[in-house]
Amino acid sequence: MGEKRTGSERKRMETDSLGDWRRTDYCGRLNARDAGRDVVLAGWVSNRRDLGSLLFVMVRDRTGEVQLVFDREADADLWERARSWRNEFVVAVQGRLRERSLETVNPDSPTGSVEVEPSEVRLLNTSSNPPFYIQDDLDVEEGLRLKHRYLDLRRPRMQRNLVLRSRVNQAIRQFLEARDFCEVETPYLTRSTPEGARDYLVPSRIAPGEFYALPQSPQLFKQLLMLSGLDRYYQLVRCFRDEDLRADRQPEFTQLDLEMSFVGIEDICTMVEELLVQLFHRTRGVCVETPFPCLTYRDAMDRYGSDKPDLRYDLEIVDLSSAVRDSEFRIFSQTVDGGGSVKGLVLPGGADTARSRLDAWEEAAKSWGAAGLIWMAWDGNPLEGADAVRSPVAKFLSDADVRAIARGADAGAGDLLLVVAGERAGTNRILGRLRVQLAEELDMVPDDDRLEFLWITEPPLFETDDAGRMTSVHHPFTAPCAEDEELVDADPLAVRSAGFDVVLNGVELASGSMRIHRQNLQQRVFSVLEMDEDIQRERFGFFLDALEYGLPPHGGIAFGMDRLVMMIAGECSIRDVIAFPKTTAARDLMTRAPSKIDREQLRELALKIQREES
Ligand code: AMO
Repeated sequence: MGEKRTGSERKRMETDSLGDWRRTDYCGRLNARDAGRDVVLAGWVSNRRDLGSLLFVMVRDRTGEVQLVFDREADADLWERARSWRNEFVVAVQGRLRERSLETVNPDSPTGSVEVEPSEVRLLNTSSNPPFYIQDDLDVEEGLRLKHRYLDLRRPRMQRNLVLRSRVNQAIRQFLEARDFCEVETPYLTRSTPEGARDYLVPSRIAPGEFYALPQSPQLFKQLLMLSGLDRYYQLVRCFRDEDLRADRQPEFTQLDLEMSFVGIEDICTMVEELLVQLFHRTRGVCVETPFPCLTYRDAMDRYGSDKPDLRYDLEIVDLSSAVRDSEFRIFSQTVDGGGSVKGLVLPGGADTARSRLDAWEEAAKSWGAAGLIWMAWDGNPLEGADAVRSPVAKFLSDADVRAIARGADAGAGDLLLVVAGERAGTNRILGRLRVQLAEELDMVPDDDRLEFLWITEPPLFETDDAGRMTSVHHPFTAPCAEDEELVDADPLAVRSAGFDVVLNGVELASGSMRIHRQNLQQRVFSVLEMDEDIQRERFGFFLDALEYGLPPHGGIAFGMDRLVMMIAGECSIRDVIAFPKTTAARDLMTRAPSKIDREQLRELALKIQREES
């Protein structure tokens, strides 16, 4: 109070704050219609061109950039001050917007028809030289981007993605609120909810030796909200899963989680389709056609070898089992005899594929568990018989075999057939992976904006894991298909579930199901999952108790929001639509989490770190 300031301190105060200036416009929104107006802009210096007495400075904000022109002749002091600016300095400028002369218009920039003639400027902050240019079209190593994420997010593309994400959230909320959905927040510090991954655990300080689990999804809470009578619930909610990460997985990710009472599958699917139509229209301006095509899980596996097939390209799996049932080539006929399948992929015009490539595909198929990959290249008309085909197994095939295979595969002269023989599910899976690899390698995925939505229905209720233990394909609260309910105890692996997934261009966007709403059926499902009564009570006692109090028939679904926004934004990685994502090693390179904690914290939590002896 009352302290005297020196002249230079006063000057600093004047120049490093906005003072009474208030921004009138965003840089990127200016255009020729605004010419002649006085504006105040604020942002970061994105580029400078010093032509001696003329200095051009681009200033960038969230919406884009605009050019400032400093002319020494017009104002030497202003020109001098602006010359000291460097890229990424934070500046404010007051000036007049003017139209550029025809020859200086930049047609590549949205604000390229205007420029600002500054009358006053303020330097609000300086900046060190950033470790990479703040531009979209540079190939910066991802580790460096993530370490300096705050700078990476300054790039126009990343800003567009975050703004888009916010608009998607808003459009979802509007859509659902208009349909009587109620947003409810469920706890993050909770008990384990099984979704197939490991839990992230949080030690309790007050109850030493006890742990909360961060939710893998709010599955049980949303079902309990149906019991409470909420009727229609939604939540944009963070979920946590300790699992092996890939480009489309993060240890913490966001779901649009939904649940509805007194509905059937059709009601949920119709509502979801309407939501997607509106979302893609409002945020990307495209018309999505409904109803989406629908494939049963079994058909999807048989025809595409995947429960999330990309339908932007054909390359369907062909079943040759009946064509080779009586083949003289025993690998084929014996496989079919033993209940297995002989199936393949036809590459039209692929007969001249190089041997090295065929070998590489065979190696890939073997690494996925195939005994081998047999190729057959038709140089001539397949109906001519064995002479028309080139193949490592040609000598084992009779004319009739070759004709039958060609007919079964619908292959013609110039085509290539790739065949796998083995147990049905494994054969499907291997050919499914090969299908994806061939499509990528041979550029079969169209690079237009095509959106191929698809429902996958009736996945199995149970499967066995690598150790042969029974697990849920979706989660243990999914209802069996009504027709298969009787089989739950007798033949669980044959039971189809009332589950459904939304797939878009080969990406699983959402997964949902009708739920079990009767206690007895829930207990039977738990029993199939090898949980005896004690374990059931220990893990899910609260839920089984609740099931005594009138849970209505209900079902729901959850979208992976990161994947959904990635698809709307046309990005290839969910990391590009998440503000602060983690690496595939689940690390945050910026904050350097996870990190060690100090002894005192460990002591408070009654934890001891056990180091492996090296
Ligand atoms: P599910 O486990 O299939 O279902 O998850 C729903 C959707 O969430 C997305 N997703 C992920 N996204 C990014 N990173 C991850 N690690 C990740 N794991 C899943 C996927 C997926 O389709 N409770 C059920 C839903 C229900 O039945 O209503 C559930 O969580 O897009």
